[in-house]
Amino acid sequence: MSLPPAAPPAAPSATLSAAPAPAPYAGARRFSVAPMMDWTDRHCRAFHRTLTRRALLYTEMVTAQAVLRGDRDHLLGFDGVEHPVALQLGGSDPDLLAEAARIGADYGYDEINLNVGCPSDRVQSGRFGACLMREPALVAECVAAMGAAVSVPVTVKCRIGVDDQDPEESLYTLVDACAAAGVDQFIVHARKAWLQGLSPKENRDIPPLDYALVRRLKADRPGLAIMLNGGLSGLDPCAAEAVGLDGVMLGRAAYHDPGLLGSVDARLFGSDDGPVSPEAAIEAYRPYLARQLAAGTSLAAMSRHMLGLFQGRPGARAWRRIMTVEAVRPGAGLDVLDRALAALRPSRQPEPAGLA
Ligand SMILES: Cc1cc2nc3c(=O)[nH]c(=O)nc-3n(C[C@H](O)[C@H](O)[C@H](O)COP(=O)(O)O)c2cc1C
Repeated sequence: MSLPPAAPPAAPSATLSAAPAPAPYAGARRFSVAPMMDWTDRHCRAFHRTLTRRALLYTEMVTAQAVLRGDRDHLLGFDGVEHPVALQLGGSDPDLLAEAARIGADYGYDEINLNVGCPSDRVQSGRFGACLMREPALVAECVAAMGAAVSVPVTVKCRIGVDDQDPEESLYTLVDACAAAGVDQFIVHARKAWLQGLSPKENRDIPPLDYALVRRLKADRPGLAIMLNGGLSGLDPCAAEAVGLDGVMLGRAAYHDPGLLGSVDARLFGSDDGPVSPEAAIEAYRPYLARQLAAGTSLAAMSRHMLGLFQGRPGARAWRRIMTVEAVRPGAGLDVLDRALAALRPSRQPEPAGLA
């Protein structure tokens, strides 16, 4: 994987003028944190941003219907520190998606992504997500309408196929249809979704991974940016598997072990900045926490994303306990964070057996 040319820094955030200028969107797809429902909310993304300046961060999926009819600020609001940040939409109605994309772009998202990979029943009954792998012409219509409505890139996150589809055919057909409609960036979760009989969770583990197919797609369609997703367990596999592709997307590993994001800029983007330590990330997150607490957000809504930060370190268990038990108490504030930090023992003192 060759490093991207240095791009100029993006315009400083309007919301946080004191914060460092956000990294540019260009090139950020080299490493992204996956869209994850109930997990990658705005507080999670702001936290992840303290660990990596360069990674592209994705929202949870928001349906086009919700964008049009729901509480927009609640669904789409985000902090300027989160850039570069992509909004993932779900839906299959070109007009609704175009309108939702336009609203998302007006909110300031750097990219609008269409979900063609989510296998849940709720999503299937709405005829979107992974079941759209069967409807490439409709997906192409959707992304064409979205692309006509916005000036930011429209991208697609898809599976390699569903059920009994031949992935060699279903993946290429979907990608080619979208490419003809103007999409040139694809994130491929490199396994099928089996829509009958598996839960969404099982559909993230059981259908076998096929990285080779994603690699062939890139070789056959060199003009398209192809990012690999699925089953990557940390930065070593990310760096290894990214070779020959345009980027990798990490989901569960990044959420459960966010500390690894501290090395992303150096390892995946070739940045000269050293790794960001968990302690430094917390200090960088503290002003955000204080601002959100003052605005009425509960500590628990933010602390829940930080539980894995000290994974493998002495005192990690005490950290997690304090950040869960004490953070849910009414009025919990930054003193809880300080107590949890104080509970972390210096790493030379081994954690008692059975407590890690
Ligand atoms: C809790 C959870 C929620 C998810 N929600 C979404 C979603 O909203 N949209 C989407 O495209 N994928 C969603 N995914 C799938 C991930 O984006 C990713 O494709 C999948 O977890 C495989 O990557 P990984 O092995 O690195 O975790 C979700 C995954 C998890 C674990």
